[in-house]
Amino acid sequence: MEEQKKKVILSGIQPTGIFTLGNYLGAVRNWAKMQEDFHSAYMIADLHALTVRQEPADFRKRILSCYALLLACGVDPEKSIAFIQSHVPAHSQLSWVLSCNTQFGELSRMTQFKDKAAQHADNINAGLFTYPSLMAADILLYQADLVPVGVDQKQHLELTRDIANRFNGVYGNTFTIPEAYTAQGAKIMSLADPTKKMSKSDPNPNGCILILDEPGAIVKKFKRAVTDSDMEVCYREGKDGINNLMTIYSAVTGLSMDQITADFAGKGYGDFKAAVGEAVAEHLRPVRERYNDLMNNKDYLVECYRKGAEQAERIARRTLDKVYKKVGLLAK
Ligand code: TRP
Repeated sequence: MEEQKKKVILSGIQPTGIFTLGNYLGAVRNWAKMQEDFHSAYMIADLHALTVRQEPADFRKRILSCYALLLACGVDPEKSIAFIQSHVPAHSQLSWVLSCNTQFGELSRMTQFKDKAAQHADNINAGLFTYPSLMAADILLYQADLVPVGVDQKQHLELTRDIANRFNGVYGNTFTIPEAYTAQGAKIMSLADPTKKMSKSDPNPNGCILILDEPGAIVKKFKRAVTDSDMEVCYREGKDGINNLMTIYSAVTGLSMDQITADFAGKGYGDFKAAVGEAVAEHLRPVRERYNDLMNNKDYLVECYRKGAEQAERIARRTLDKVYKKVGLLAK
């Protein structure tokens, strides 16, 4: 029987802190599922995080704990390449060449750059501006076919495709043109303001569930979740709070929206919120336990990220060598 060639998938997450329930249900949990069907590489994008000023000692710890979170969420270093971006120098190296093949005008149109520049008016550094060229390098080094990204990264992926197509046109076929893979997790909204995405920087700490939160804290936050003034647990336009809770409940239990509506017919929001809180707390319990085990076994973590870096390096180096040759750099 002819075996179909497995596609290559790559994604990354910045080590900005403990992952939220949104990061988990929207992205990282699905990466773990996808490693069964694809050649997968997942990385901690530490170089990207340097576009914002970091406190060095704290940053170093956070990179390690985010790597542990990646594994705790189910990314299996036996099935995927799980690595840390800065451990593979080819990312920075290709990023330079790609920067020289990316236009100022293109980078200026990136909405994330405009937003971040407005947020950090005191530190609009060049890295913040060229960030998409580094992301393009991350993706193109592995000749990725598919890139699972949220909507906020879609524009960067489009730019990656433009850069790759242009490069291929000028220098001959070099890069696989990647596609966004958005048929993935649910978009999780803030529990305090369900019109906004769940975020660690939510001004209201009850809006955001972190995946290492204690069960009691999780249940409490769900009890306080903002809903609406009618009574029915059903998915309908205008019921942002209930829609969000149903999305979360469905994601952790596997129940359909209709089943949830049927199960909670005649019951109040209080019962529903308690059920969601408990289901989430139970679902995250093994993740928290695995994380604690991993953090108590640093030698194993080091072994994993070193192996990941070696595997990544081998693939990345091949692409970088090809690019250096194509653009006419002299081999040493
Ligand atoms: N920029 C992405 C984010 O902030 C993280 C990231 C870096 C990434 N490199 C990537 C995502 C490559 C997908 C592919 O969410």
